Amino acid sequence: MDFLQQYVLQHLGWLPKNIKDAYLELQQEYRARERTGYKNLEQIQAYVFTRFPATYRVCLKLIEQHLKDFEIHSVLDWGCGIGTASLALSEYFQNLECFLIEQDQQAKSYAMQFIKHFYPNNIVNQDIPSKNVDLCIFSYSLGEVSNWQTILDDVWQKANYLLIIEPGTSAHYKQLLTVREYMLTKGAYLLGPCCHTNGCPLKSNDWCHFSVNVPRSKEHRMLKNGERGFEQEAYSYMLFSKIPKNNNDFGRLVAKPRLHGGHIDLKICTKDGKITTPTVSRSSKHYKSLKKCVWGDVIKHELP
Ligand SMILES: C[S@@+](CC[C@H](N)C(=O)[O-])C[C@H]1O[C@@H](n2cnc3c(N)ncnc32)[C@H](O)[C@@H]1O
Repeated sequence: MDFLQQYVLQHLGWLPKNIKDAYLELQQEYRARERTGYKNLEQIQAYVFTRFPATYRVCLKLIEQHLKDFEIHSVLDWGCGIGTASLALSEYFQNLECFLIEQDQQAKSYAMQFIKHFYPNNIVNQDIPSKNVDLCIFSYSLGEVSNWQTILDDVWQKANYLLIIEPGTSAHYKQLLTVREYMLTKGAYLLGPCCHTNGCPLKSNDWCHFSVNVPRSKEHRMLKNGERGFEQEAYSYMLFSKIPKNNNDFGRLVAKPRLHGGHIDLKICTKDGKITTPTVSRSSKHYKSLKKCVWGDVIKHELP
């Protein structure tokens, strides 16, 4: 069970078995893309037990991959829900100042409660900051609004970095490509996943997404009628910066590397905006390091 599930069971008395209907409703609306926010406390609770473990892990993965060495003291967490992204960032950055934007007052007050409980040294604000922040993050929230251009115009004036995370479906990725185009015309630098600013080379039946393993607690399995102790969460993202990055990377792995007896098959989106699918054999000097690479990693050195 993760730290938040333990906390809500012990301190708030939330009982997963009472929220099964709310979970089914949430899931139905989510699949039909009808959902914005939560209808009631039961849906918030269902989110903690079934969606939070996944969105939290995705945030952690992207922080580890891209942000952990940046100077981040403040974050604008837009559509924060129960505070997922701020909680994940707080694992890496101490004394973080969080600005929480959330339409659902109940979810927002839980976000404040959770952040203050687990990270008492953080400063938590409830509004758009009047000053600039280091990072603005939309964790699974930008896709829920139609006036995204206006919102991005506003937050981009205030943030050095902008991270947008969405579910890893082709439809969400298409939306992210539109956002990418929009941000590039605003002069933003793209830090990931693309190592280039050309058009996306993936063809219509393929799209850029990644995946994390999410452990499932007993309660999580009970709600989903699932038996497996983990699930895969697919996600897509775009990370923009006001500060250009010295980019010498060869490209990014856009599929899970396939390990065979004596060789590895890779699929890489290169810095020239092309897809290449090299086979690296055991005799290659890069074989050892590439064996450790995972889907989503950057490849530093040129491969034939
Ligand atoms: C899928 S949830 C994601 C929650 C959280 N960021 C996470 O990653 O777990 C999307 C959140 O965006 C919020 N949201 C949607 N439209 C909004 C708006 N116009 N203003 C503020 N929050 C909004 C919803 O209420 C919901 O909490």
